This record gives sequence, structure tokens and C-alpha cells, in this order.
Amino acid sequence: MSEESGWNVRGARASFKKRLLVTGGAGFIASHVIICLLERYPDYLIINLDKLDYCASLKNLQSVSSRTNYRFIQGDICDEHFVKLLFETENIHIVLHFAAQTHVDKSFWCSSEFTNVNVDGTQVLVNAAYQANVEKFIHVSTDEVYGGSIKEFPVVVTRSSNVYGPHQYPEKVIPKFIALLQRNRKCCIHGTGVQARHFLYATDVAEAFLTILEKGEPGETYNVGTNFEMSVIQLAKELVHLIKETASESELELWIEHVSDRPSNDLGYPMNSKKLHRLGWKPKVAWEEGIRKTIEWYEANFHNWPDAEKALDPFPSSALYKRC
Ligand SMILES: NC(=O)c1ccc[n+]([C@@H]2O[C@H](COP(=O)([O-])OP(=O)(O)OC[C@H]3O[C@@H](n4cnc5c(N)ncnc54)[C@H](O)[C@@H]3O)[C@@H](O)[C@H]2O)c1
Repeated sequence: MSEESGWNVRGARASFKKRLLVTGGAGFIASHVIICLLERYPDYLIINLDKLDYCASLKNLQSVSSRTNYRFIQGDICDEHFVKLLFETENIHIVLHFAAQTHVDKSFWCSSEFTNVNVDGTQVLVNAAYQANVEKFIHVSTDEVYGGSIKEFPVVVTRSSNVYGPHQYPEKVIPKFIALLQRNRKCCIHGTGVQARHFLYATDVAEAFLTILEKGEPGETYNVGTNFEMSVIQLAKELVHLIKETASESELELWIEHVSDRPSNDLGYPMNSKKLHRLGWKPKVAWEEGIRKTIEWYEANFHNWPDAEKALDPFPSSALYKRC
């Protein structure tokens, strides 16, 4: 591919080998992916398109925001006119699509917003990318939004287990329990807590996306998973053990409360990731290391989101999700 020219954030002329569009880059997983991309590909322009929803924070990207090959654009993937214009003007080669509504609890009462962003917004992006004839489109979610066009379009679909680590908005279980305990509040478990989840550290997931970017076959679906599994009750106890420095069963119980269950709470999502292993990816960060780094990060950075305290209620309130 020939070198492409473009303007960097400071208006200086710069040449880039390829131009990657990452959607949802101010969110959890994609912020890690952007940091890895900027490190691995100094000759690529990385454009972060994010509407800066309640769960986003540009502080996630503070360490790289002054790089000349990084550009942030605030915008909505559902805005067809804006997205079309973006592809027409930016000469995008590759799309990594992470922007989405992601919180299950919110989906129960804001379902139309989920459909709007996750399905219709994805459709807007896919259409614009197809028109722009991009080389590769990596979609982080479900494949159903593509209908029958997959054979004619270089889409790679990914599905991932639960991800944890720095930068995740504290509505999700791990940062929520950490932040509650750091404030001397109890972990609020939905129902019995027997439901199990597989947890992957964020940088491992970022590496998975780079592997898929480099070696993933268009038309394929890759699971990004791990054998490491924990029930929510085990998770709560583990975090109490680490943060409150106690192993006594009676003391552990003091830091746990059970609240009413979600309207629907799946018991687990077993998944096979051998296809991705064959491309050379495997998770590297052990739980002990990942969770330690995560606890330390939330101690120092919880207030990266102005309304983070509101996310610690057992069930998020509609005041947090202003648009519902
Ligand atoms: N976090 C996990 O454990 C996990 C596991 C498997 C799959 N995923 C998938 O990975 C993707 C990213 O998840 P995450 O946890 O990083 O999400 P997140 O909620 O932390 O971030 C989502 C980002 O998308 C942005 N966004 C939302 N709507 C937008 C719109 N209309 N236009 C532009 N930007 C918009 C938000 O501002 C935010 O920065 C999602 O598709 C999610 O379903 C996440």
C-alpha cells in the first residue's frame, strides 16, 4: 500500500502508511487497543471516534494524546451524514468498531438506545466503510447486523469474554466491587452470585485485537476467551481478601450483601478460542497480576468520570443514564 498523506492534530503535514479508525476509543477496551496500536504502528494514523458518552473518559488516553499519529474526533456513529463525510475525507483503510452501549443493566430499560447504537449505528458505519472500500472491518460484537453481505465485504467478527482492568467505567462488576470496598461499602451481588464469568485482562484483549488485525481472515469469527473462570460470589470474596486483607470467612461475609437479581442473569458463557490460538494469541496476564494492577489503578483514578459515584448503586438509576 502506498504512503498516504494527511494533516495531524496540530495542522502539520504528516505521512501515514495506513489510517485506522477506532470507534469507542475513549471507552474501556478500545482505549487499551489504541495505546497498543500507537506503540506498535508509529507510521499509522490512529483516529479515535467517540461521542463521549457517560462511560467514556479521554483521561484513558492522556498518556498518548499528544502523539502526532493520534487524532480524536468527537462524533456519533449513528449520525449517517457525519460518518459518511468522515470516510470521504479521512481515507480510512481499516476500521476497528468498539463503540456500543454495553451495560446489561441499562439495556433492560433503555433497550431502544441499545438497538439504535449497537445495530443501527453499526449499520451506518458498515455502509460507510463498504462505500469507502476499506481493507478490513473488525467488529467487536455480534454478526447478525450484517445480514447477507459478509461474503462481499472484508468483515471479521469477534466475541470476547468479560474484560477487566484499568479504564473501565465502574458500573461493571469488577471496578464496582473494587470501588465499593475502597469506600468501605459492601459488594452488592445480584441474586445468589453463583453465576460464573470468564475474565480476561484488558491488555491481553488489546493484543488479541492486534493479532486479529494482522492475521484475521475476512469472513471469520474469532472468540477471544480464557479458561480462567470465577463465580461472582468468589470474585467478591477474592476482592475483599485483597483489599481488606482478610481471609476469615466470617469477615469476608461482612463485606458482601445480596440484592435482588437482574431480570435475567445467565449462568455462564463457555466459549472455545482455539481458532484465535492458531493465529498465535494466548492470554499472558495472570489473574493475580491483573487484579492487583486494577485495584491500584482505581485507587488513583476512580474520579476520571465525573459521575462515577452514581455507578456504585446496586442497580444504576435513570439519572445516570440521562437519555433514557
Ligand atoms: N467490557 C467487556 O467485558 C466486553 C466483553 C466482550 C465484548 N465487549 C464488547 O466490546 C465493545 C467495547 O466494550 P467496552 O467495555 O470497552 O465499552 P465501554 O462502554 O467502556 O465503551 C464504549 C464506548 O463507545 C462510545 N460510544 C457509545 N455510543 C457511541 C456512539 N453512538 N457513537 C460513538 N461512540 C459511542 C462511548 O462513549 C464509550 O467510549 C462493545 O461492543 C462490547 O459489547 C466488551
